[in-house]
Amino acid sequence: MNKVFVLDFGSQYTQLIARRIRELGIYAEIHPYNVALSFLKKESPQALIFSGGPQSVYEPQAPLVPPEIFSLGIPVLGICYGAQLMAHLLSGRVGRARKREYGLAELQCLDRSGLLSELQENSPVWMSHGDKIRKVPPGFIVTGITSNTEAAVIENRERQIYGVQFHPEVAHTVEGKKIFSNFLFRLVGLQPDWTMGNFIENKVREIRETVGRSKVLAALSGGVDSLVASLLIHRAIGRRLICVFVDNGLLRQRQYEKQLEIFKHRYGLKVVAVKAAPLFLAKLKGVTSPERKRKIIGRTFIEVFEEQARRFKEVEFLAQGTIYPDVIESAPVKGPSAKIKSHHNVGGLPSRLPFKLIEPLRELFKDEVRRVGLELGVEREFLDQHPFPGPGLAVRIIGEVTAERLAILRQADDILLQEVRKAGLYEKLWQAFAVLLPVRSVGVMGDERTYQQVIVLRLVQSLDGMTASWFPASADFLSRVASRIVNEVEGVNRVVYDITTKPPATIEWE
Ligand code: XMP
Repeated sequence: MNKVFVLDFGSQYTQLIARRIRELGIYAEIHPYNVALSFLKKESPQALIFSGGPQSVYEPQAPLVPPEIFSLGIPVLGICYGAQLMAHLLSGRVGRARKREYGLAELQCLDRSGLLSELQENSPVWMSHGDKIRKVPPGFIVTGITSNTEAAVIENRERQIYGVQFHPEVAHTVEGKKIFSNFLFRLVGLQPDWTMGNFIENKVREIRETVGRSKVLAALSGGVDSLVASLLIHRAIGRRLICVFVDNGLLRQRQYEKQLEIFKHRYGLKVVAVKAAPLFLAKLKGVTSPERKRKIIGRTFIEVFEEQARRFKEVEFLAQGTIYPDVIESAPVKGPSAKIKSHHNVGGLPSRLPFKLIEPLRELFKDEVRRVGLELGVEREFLDQHPFPGPGLAVRIIGEVTAERLAILRQADDILLQEVRKAGLYEKLWQAFAVLLPVRSVGVMGDERTYQQVIVLRLVQSLDGMTASWFPASADFLSRVASRIVNEVEGVNRVVYDITTKPPATIEWE
């Protein structure tokens, strides 16, 4: 299979580069910029892409690569900092631009027979740089310019080394995809071979070889990743996969029962259902600190899972739904753009269990996991479900989690989601949920004074959960939801709408 390595010099867009390449049907992997040359030789990827990065090539701390990298015979495409680095190392010159260039610029194509084949003569591109290539390295020609950048695209077709000053990976660069496709197919000469069908076929074979006659244990969380990982393994070894699905009592209305039914009967998985709600509730008694709640829930899950795991003596492997962004973030040698993850899931299972790990999704981005899911017959509705935090409703009940408060929140949340779906909003939102506050307020129902609880509605839009905006729901919609909640949920007499963005707030309340 073809593969391309993206070397990470610290750009916020590094993952996006890898995704764009995969969208074109070529497998791409991210590595830190200082990966050993011997490793590159051994792996011999079909091409290298140098990402952008925030530094200047002439700064003392600048991330550099040994110039021999250009003599490995592997074609290279440098983006922004990556292009400047290329010029710097190949006897060109890079310096501060008189005018920094951020945002949209118009690329004027001077030569449309290589990297810019089939582009419009003038094409909008996304710029973000303070430096620029001042002297083009020997052997290179300039094939594209902007009003502010004399060497926006440089090419050395003989040596197969190319550089672009702008960011072809971002959507603002309208013909960015064409540039990647010219590089990969026209110039390097690759054929696309990364499809989800191929992935499934190869993975199933690999799982069969790895597992042999033994058995695999998996934890289902109710989320997409653990289900798709399980279905893939199930396709390979059938009922020698044993899934454990724990009811922690912190899921939404009837969520556990509905999902258990689907796992067992629609997908034919062998599922051990563990009803552990009373245990989780007992451990959460009296606890109000958000961090302690998370820790207790995580630890209790592990205890419950371990107890189950001990029952299956013949199991040799443990399956995990790790996906590629998790792998990048927890890599031992990080590229400069790696971030520290702030949330973890109760799915994070203990390493002290005596199992070998299998992680069939560890090469995949989230959208690829969904596509694999679709090919394995998972319903779109399941794949497109909103994210749900590992600690569940416990972090949406501010203050102590009790059976009564859980029941109130579940009903309110259920009403909200019914109305969200009815109004056709579900697909437009990143998340929609209710939160139960630890305060009471005075109200009047009939002729009676009431002193009851408050529900918050939270509807947000987001691309990745890192930032979010509150959704401007219509007054009609909000009043319908509010009136249903106070009428139908006993114990609630007030509903409020959260209109904070993230940052400064977070999406969840805890
Ligand atoms: P915040 O509240 O930090 O959340 O803005 C960002 C996104 O992450 C989800 N979230 C979690 N997901 N385990 C998870 O699997 C967690 O502990 C957790 N905490 C928050 C949250 O729902 C939102 O989509």
